[in-house]
Amino acid sequence: MGTPDDILMALGTVQDPDLHRDLVTLGMIEDVVVDGGRVSFTVVLTTAACPLKAEIEADCRAAVSAVPGVQDIAIRTISRMRKPKDPTADRKALPGVAQVIAIGSGKGGVGKSTVSANLAVALAQTGAKVGLLDGDIYGPNLPRMLGVRRQPSQRDGKIMPVEAWGIHFMSMGLLVDQGEAVVWRGPMLHGAIKSFLHDVDWGELDYLLVDLPPGTGDVQLSLIQQTFVAGAAIVTTPSTVAIEDAVKAIAMFGKLNVPVLGVIENMSYFICPSCNARHEIFGSGTGEARALAMGLPFLGAIPLHPDVRITGDEGRPAVISSPDTEYARALTAIAGHLAQRISIQTVGAPQPAPASQS
Ligand SMILES: Nc1ncnc2c1ncn2[C@@H]1O[C@H](COP(=O)(O)OP(=O)(O)OP(=O)(O)O)[C@@H](O)[C@H]1O
Ligand SMILES: [Mg+2]
Repeated sequence: MGTPDDILMALGTVQDPDLHRDLVTLGMIEDVVVDGGRVSFTVVLTTAACPLKAEIEADCRAAVSAVPGVQDIAIRTISRMRKPKDPTADRKALPGVAQVIAIGSGKGGVGKSTVSANLAVALAQTGAKVGLLDGDIYGPNLPRMLGVRRQPSQRDGKIMPVEAWGIHFMSMGLLVDQGEAVVWRGPMLHGAIKSFLHDVDWGELDYLLVDLPPGTGDVQLSLIQQTFVAGAAIVTTPSTVAIEDAVKAIAMFGKLNVPVLGVIENMSYFICPSCNARHEIFGSGTGEARALAMGLPFLGAIPLHPDVRITGDEGRPAVISSPDTEYARALTAIAGHLAQRISIQTVGAPQPAPASQS
């Protein structure tokens, strides 16, 4: 019968399909126990939202079953997020938050808030701990899209985020009356973002998604100045004007040293409910083509469907209210791809050499 070392040798041949290194080198195998013909071990994924979980488990099982004498294999799969390091280290970290991810666009109305709400909930559905910060101070739409109107409470001098659909949520829309306009100058806006980041008790989170207002303005700058944003996802429609504006947003994140994790094309096509014909209202494939031309990952396409708007207006995100639809499946798949890109960026990037002792 093999020893735990034999099992580790076998698992050392299994590659993480995203990270292109073996699971043992990546530190993803723990607790190897051999008891007669029975082997058990733990696989530690880099995210609960890993879409390749079943594939990785099957590869582990196949590798270990080739070790002579193994009769029974018990695999426990857990996840542990890894936290990227702020290269500048002059911004205040959010202590319990592993990854801050911005959801931006160049053009307004392309579906950032809809996509942010659904991605946050879809990530939470995988078991990840997720927060969603509504960065749209002047026009917060997320309270409606999540169906929450409760005032956040306070504890020990901190603001407590509101719970909705398994995520922690905070928005200016929870603090002002519905219909009331927020008329603030830049410095006050800066203060609000700072407060939402550092005065809110976000707790332990794998992901904090920040839904940004359109464009390349004060909120984007404030967010990036005040905490380490690990990456940004850009939402666009296939229309030329939206893509042109998305390119500007991508350039802004580049200038501010925030890696762009990928491009999401929303309102990609419309399937006519009466004749089933596919209509490409805003053009076709341009988001993907432009992403690839810029060397950026394409995270996926979401169709235009009246129910996406209706579920948003009713405060029940599509991934909750109609999970078996093409649009909800697209949103769930995009959440998985986003999680993959974050893992690749955090774990897959060459690790900095340890500081030499002198
Ligand atoms: N795939 C879709 N199918 C149908 N309607 C959609 C889709 N995506 C978004 N919408 C609708 O389009 C409108 C604009 O979406 P949303 O508010 O999410 O965009 P936004 O980019 O956040 O806008 P803003 O720039 O104002 O913040 C909303 O009414 C929303 O319900
Ligand atoms: Mg919005």
